[in-house]
Amino acid sequence: MTEPRSEVVAKTEGYYDSQDADSFYFEIWGGEDIHIGLYDDTDEIASASRLTVARMAEIAAPITPRTRVLDLGAGYGGAARFLARAYGCSVTCLNLSGTQNATNERLTGEQGLGDLVDVVRGNFEDIPEPDESVDLVWSQDAILHSGRRARVLEEVRRVLKPGGRFVFTDPMQADDCPADVLQPVYDRIHLESLGSFAFYRRTAADLGFEERDVIDLTPQLRTHYHRVGEDLRARYDQLTGKASRAYLDRMLVGLGNWVDAADSGYLAWGILHFRKP
Ligand SMILES: C[S@@+](CC[C@H](N)C(=O)[O-])C[C@H]1O[C@@H](n2cnc3c(N)ncnc32)[C@H](O)[C@@H]1O
Repeated sequence: MTEPRSEVVAKTEGYYDSQDADSFYFEIWGGEDIHIGLYDDTDEIASASRLTVARMAEIAAPITPRTRVLDLGAGYGGAARFLARAYGCSVTCLNLSGTQNATNERLTGEQGLGDLVDVVRGNFEDIPEPDESVDLVWSQDAILHSGRRARVLEEVRRVLKPGGRFVFTDPMQADDCPADVLQPVYDRIHLESLGSFAFYRRTAADLGFEERDVIDLTPQLRTHYHRVGEDLRARYDQLTGKASRAYLDRMLVGLGNWVDAADSGYLAWGILHFRKP
């Protein structure tokens, strides 16, 4: 049954729909992805972000033209287009943000992938898909925005077919993070809390998922937020035509708080992969 949206969902929708946030994410990442990259072979945000998508696809293999994929919190749809182009699979992009969805539809059409990628506006705490209809649920750096992460995993289990897979990344707190040190981290993008590796492993096990891979890539998180801060500083004057100075200044402080929290060992990030038996 559809439940009323929580305040945190409404806030997140307003945030990603705002011109400030939309301009910042589109310009800094280049319009395809908005997530943490893998910086072992590059220091470019767009290329590093692409490498995360490719690595997750390898982990989620096999992906074939018969695989039905659902991307939770799909942003501009970059991962969906990558998967559709590389594997011929069909991908549904579920996303709260109407602004991002309009860009996703435009880019998908321009890239000739409209037959394989569709875009649905909705909330991943209440996934508008039938039971047991999806082969692969995919999500990158989106579930952190939910105040009800266990509910999101319940929804994932409901829509997955038996044997279906769930692969995702999420910025998290470290399993041993002290209480009450993360408020400056939450403030950057209106969060109320963060998950953790321990939380996701326990919740997935409680829901009957089999654990396949849990890959701790935490150092990439620190590199990523540092690089985003560097790029924002370098392109500040150019970006002020598109996003307000107040937003960009708050973002610079917020990114610094994420780097500091990473240096203190309070944060975590990685790729998690579960299977529904
Ligand atoms: C950091 S962006 C990541 C976007 C995309 N996954 C990517 O990697 O490029 C977080 C995304 O989650 C979406 N989102 C946040 N809360 C959501 C919710 N409750 N339901 C659906 N989408 C949500 C936002 O609109 C945004 O597109």
